[in-house]
Amino acid sequence: MKATLEKLGLFALRRIDPERAHALALKALKAGLAPLPGPVTSERLHQTLAGLHLPNPVGLAAGFDKNAEAVAPLSQAGFGFIEVGAATPLAQPGNPTPRLFRLREDRAAINRFGFNNDGMAAIAERLARAHSAVPVGINLGANKTSADRAADFARVMEHMAGKVSFATVNVSSPNTEKLRDLQGADALAALLDGVMQTRGTVPVFLKIAPDLTETELADIASVARDAQVDAIIATNTTLDRTGLTSPHRDQAGGLSGQPLVEKSTRVLARLSTLTDIPLIGVGGVASGAQAYAKIRAGASAVQLYTGLVYGGLSLAAEIAQSLDLLLQKDGFSGVSEAVGTDRDRWL
Ligand code: FNR
Repeated sequence: MKATLEKLGLFALRRIDPERAHALALKALKAGLAPLPGPVTSERLHQTLAGLHLPNPVGLAAGFDKNAEAVAPLSQAGFGFIEVGAATPLAQPGNPTPRLFRLREDRAAINRFGFNNDGMAAIAERLARAHSAVPVGINLGANKTSADRAADFARVMEHMAGKVSFATVNVSSPNTEKLRDLQGADALAALLDGVMQTRGTVPVFLKIAPDLTETELADIASVARDAQVDAIIATNTTLDRTGLTSPHRDQAGGLSGQPLVEKSTRVLARLSTLTDIPLIGVGGVASGAQAYAKIRAGASAVQLYTGLVYGGLSLAAEIAQSLDLLLQKDGFSGVSEAVGTDRDRWL
């Protein structure tokens, strides 16, 4: 019955403007209207990442709960960890609407939100009050009009230290002009240095774009090692539009969902040949098999967002349970045993 209601709710949500549908989904979560299975875990699913204890390795990707409004219910939705934000020092409205598009035929989305958020003070306050059953991290961003974007990351980090289990340096969003220039070796080294000085004891993750050349990827791996980054998240959304059929395919912004799954897994596998830093695989995960493929390509954990648009919030628990069975079927006693066991297929 609950499942049917959820599917009906999803059907209705998919008919209305995507940004409004998203706001309604968050409202329903906050009001306790969504079915929540509670944290999913097992001996096989439990994973340790950068010192964090995750009940399972299936996380919520940044951008779903930008303002940390629904942390407690999301932590009961079956995710093993949650990333909120991006948070910038000052609140900002983001780009004009419409800025979120569903590509139904492609099981994808294009967004050009541009870091709309309530600002670090409001978000930190909510985080301080939220009771989460799983580790919660913050996605760090920079204000569009900031004179010193690198300094913004350190400022948000400083403000959030003590309130989060991890923080992600996001220099890979395509929706803030020139932000991705910060992925260049020198700029990135300086930026990470600033963040590391303000992080206290918080593990710092680095999130990269899928549209990098081999040289850029190697540079990033080397800078991340020197800066002692605790994990790398691969990947953010793509600018690539290959193979799309939906009417909205030419909208400007970052593409996420199914068309990104293989590309992001290939970047992940390549990266795992370049570094020993733990990796988190993101991009198009919508099934246990896809989560498992990313783990076997080299990911210690995965995250998802767009899959929820088409599969509903029960997807996190379904993926975690399916992953448990897939690990068992192949004789793995835990997630970490499976990491990278099928990497060469993606190189
Ligand atoms: C995102 N994503 C994102 N990433 C990030 O680092 N900071 C952010 O603020 C956002 N915001 C955001 C908004 C929307 C509407 C979408 C769809 C995505 C990227 C997201 O975390 C993830 O990396 C990609 O979407 C790829 O994963 P999925 O969606 O294919 O599972």
